[in-house]
Amino acid sequence: MNVSRRQFLGRSAAAAALAPFALAGTSDPCEAAAHAEFDLSMGFPDGAIRLNYNENVLGPSPKAIEGALAAVPGSSRYALSHTLAPHVADYLGLDVDWVLMGTGSTELLRIAPITRAHSGGNVVAARETWGGMLAVAENIGLSVRRVDMRDNGGFSYNVDRMLAAVDSATQIFLIVTPNNPTGTTLTYEQIKSIADALPKDVLFVLDQAYVDYQADAPTGIDLLKEGYKNVLVTQTFSKAHALAGLRCGYGAAHPDILKAIAGLGCGPASVNMAAYGAVLGALSDLEHAGRSREYVQECRKYLKRECDRLGLNSVAGPSPFVLIELGDRSDAIHQALLERKIFVTHGSTWQVPDYLRVSYGLESENEAFIAALRSLV
Ligand SMILES: Cc1ncc(COP(=O)(O)O)c(C=O)c1O
Repeated sequence: MNVSRRQFLGRSAAAAALAPFALAGTSDPCEAAAHAEFDLSMGFPDGAIRLNYNENVLGPSPKAIEGALAAVPGSSRYALSHTLAPHVADYLGLDVDWVLMGTGSTELLRIAPITRAHSGGNVVAARETWGGMLAVAENIGLSVRRVDMRDNGGFSYNVDRMLAAVDSATQIFLIVTPNNPTGTTLTYEQIKSIADALPKDVLFVLDQAYVDYQADAPTGIDLLKEGYKNVLVTQTFSKAHALAGLRCGYGAAHPDILKAIAGLGCGPASVNMAAYGAVLGALSDLEHAGRSREYVQECRKYLKRECDRLGLNSVAGPSPFVLIELGDRSDAIHQALLERKIFVTHGSTWQVPDYLRVSYGLESENEAFIAALRSLV
């Protein structure tokens, strides 16, 4: 395993926490890790270019790594996630009972429909959107009403048609902003007008996994501060804070909504010890999300320019990925990229089979992707 020197910055906190290893007569695990031979390839071939999971290639903040290293030696204990919530609540400017931690925001998104499934009903969502919550909703018998986003070579929320799909059986209204895979965003005025238009017994879920990539974006958190009680906002440390592999996200909502979710999951052990320390570190270095945002803006400009040069329509928002329109060549190009060990996601995942979604990688990876695409179109 290659571990950079940078990852061992700020070792003092970690070293203090490692004292028990010295007592047990074993070596310093951080030192040992630098030379360890674990296979962390996760099935990807050598030289793979991984542009398929919207991961943050800048890596975590050194502060987050320091926090994780400080926490890991204490992993024989559970990381009590309700004691992490006050830190996140402080960051959001909310009371602590308005925040619930989860194993990524996925945990909250997957549980939310279960709290609403007692008498059946439906969920209203866009067609071309992230399906984590929608798959659970369908599996437990809720029907999902998907409203098309296609709009003249781009994608936008058709809010009026989505609202028209709401009826007395609607349990949840889902908006992902910025959206995955289209990057579409809604303004604060738009999300507020949706909250106003929805019946009070419909849960308005605002999935904001990518919100930190949107500079100065007013978020669903502001809706909560304005007193909306039927809104669940989910956010995460996976994306702009680059902690995807440590799995920590949260939901913010009126305590009654969070109590219903906590009755089914998101328990005191939903956050792991490394994530607990890393989140504390990330919260002490919020500029890191700003650095991620700037990097993503550069990548977006580069990919857009290169797609224009190739005569390809590309669609991107503030989030760390672009949709590239390839029409009926998308299958063949997806396959040819795989043969070159370049991993991107086929649009059929979100019912846009004529597109490929490409996450932004390192500069050299973006260039390798473009070179491959140039040779294929
Ligand atoms: C729109 C959206 N929401 C939620 C998630 C889940 O994020 P996590 O569980 O890592 O917080 C993702 C992951 O890619 C996503 O794209």
